[in-house]
Amino acid sequence: MKDIIIAPSMLASDFSQVRESLDFVKKNGAQWVHLDVMDGHFVPNMTFGTKFVQDMRPHSDLVFDVHLMVENPEFFVEEFGKTGADYITFHVESCYHIHRLIYRIKELGKKAGISIVPSTPVSAIAPVLGDVDLVLVMTVNPGFGGQKLIPSCIEKISQLSSIKKEKGYNYLISVDGGVGGSNAQTLVDAGADVLATGSAFFKDPSWTKTLQF
Ligand code: DX5
Ligand code: ZN
Repeated sequence: MKDIIIAPSMLASDFSQVRESLDFVKKNGAQWVHLDVMDGHFVPNMTFGTKFVQDMRPHSDLVFDVHLMVENPEFFVEEFGKTGADYITFHVESCYHIHRLIYRIKELGKKAGISIVPSTPVSAIAPVLGDVDLVLVMTVNPGFGGQKLIPSCIEKISQLSSIKKEKGYNYLISVDGGVGGSNAQTLVDAGADVLATGSAFFKDPSWTKTLQF
């Protein structure tokens, strides 16, 4: 038995009603809040920066799970470190010196996560799997909410789960993109610890209560 963490993505909420959305997240049993930061370069969309996260912080006691979809994430972690973020996750595809950045995030007193897009294999992050607190497997091409999960990515969750057991690593396996009632149990069975979910959660979160671990 393990706890599955539900991490609703605020991207799917109405930004004009942030406080109500944070209440909705908590009331429906989620433990984390997933915050998608997009820069219009790494992904073809823009969302929000540090101020938005900082302004939300006093209105939620849940874990803030910041997902940086930005180029040069090393330019931003310092400032996100001051926002009250708990986890800071960046993409291997947008950074040359991932080992250095993981330890910079840790020095800031934050949990460090690394993420891979659907076309990146687990082997691309193998050398740092012993160093990270979280691995975020993208199951859609990042940039937008409401897309369909790409089934071939599920295999990466199983791989990460096996490596974790084999080597005794401690990272959480998080899944992001198209996660909802129709696939959540499969993802949990494959080894997911955290389900980042946007549209499917804000539309009707009842499926999160039906998961069996
Ligand atoms: C996509 C983001 C996701 C997104 C998930 O680029 O990283 O966190 O908000 O939204 P859904 O669950 O609607 O795919
Ligand atoms: Zn995300």
